[in-house]
Amino acid sequence: MKQTILKVNNLCKSYFMNKTELKVLDSVSFSLEKAESIAITGPSGSGKSTLMGLCAGLDNPDSGEIILCDQDINSMNEDERALLRLSQTSFIFQSFHLMPTLTALENVMVPLELQNNANKETKERALELLSKVGLKERQHHFPSQLSGGEQQRVAIARAFINQPKILFADEPTGNLDSHTASKIQDLLFELNQQLSTSLIIVTHDNDLAAKANRTLKMKAGQISE
Ligand SMILES: Nc1ncnc2c1ncn2[C@@H]1O[C@H](COP(=O)(O)OP(=O)(O)O)[C@@H](O)[C@H]1O
Ligand SMILES: [Mg+2]
Repeated sequence: MKQTILKVNNLCKSYFMNKTELKVLDSVSFSLEKAESIAITGPSGSGKSTLMGLCAGLDNPDSGEIILCDQDINSMNEDERALLRLSQTSFIFQSFHLMPTLTALENVMVPLELQNNANKETKERALELLSKVGLKERQHHFPSQLSGGEQQRVAIARAFINQPKILFADEPTGNLDSHTASKIQDLLFELNQQLSTSLIIVTHDNDLAAKANRTLKMKAGQISE
C-alpha cells in the first residue's frame, strides 16, 4: 500500500532585498512515498536548499501546504516542529557537520542523546550502524582523525540512528572525490532500501541523480519531472 511521507502543494516563497522581490519558489508541488528516493537537480541559486528547509519546517512559506509524516507543519509551533524533525527526519549536508569534540561513535549517538534515549541497547545499534558504514574500527576516532569520506559515513550512520521516515540530503557528496562519492551514494541507497527510509537528495551529480527513483528539476522557481 502506498504511504505518502511528504506532500508539498503550491509552495511559494520570496525573499525581499531592498524592497525588490526575489521569487525563489513559484508554486512548487510534489510528493514522496515511503522508501522512495527523489533527486532534486538544478542550477545554483534555483531554490533547492530553500525548498529543503521549508519541507523540514525550518522556515515558513509565503503560501502553500506541506504535509510531513501526516502533519501539516504550517499549523505547528516551533517546539512541535522540532520534535517532529528529531523523531521522524534526518539531515546530511555537504560539509558533514560532525561535532569536533566527539568521537565517531559519540557523534552517531547525538540524536539519541537529544531524545534522552542513549542506553546500552541504543549504543549497540550505533555500533551496528558504524559497522554497516565500514567504520567500526574507527569508533574512537575524532572527526579530525578521519578522511572526508569517513566523516560523511559517520554523518550517514548518525542520520539513520533514529530510524527516520525521511532523510534530507543537501549535496551530500559535493565535497568528495568521485570514487569516494560513488561509494557513499551506494551506501545511502543501500540503507534507504534496508530501512525503508524515504530520501530527498539535492545534487549536481548526474550519477547520483540516476540512482534515485525520480528526478525533479528546479528552474526559475518551478519544478518539473
Ligand atoms: N535568507 C535569504 N535572504 C535573501 N535571499 C536568499 C536567502 N536565502 C536564499 N536566498 C536567495 O534565494 C535563491 C535560492 O537560494 P538557494 O535555495 O540556497 O538555492 P540553491 O540551493 O538551489 O543553490 C538564491 O538566489 C539566494 O541568493
Ligand atoms: Mg543549496
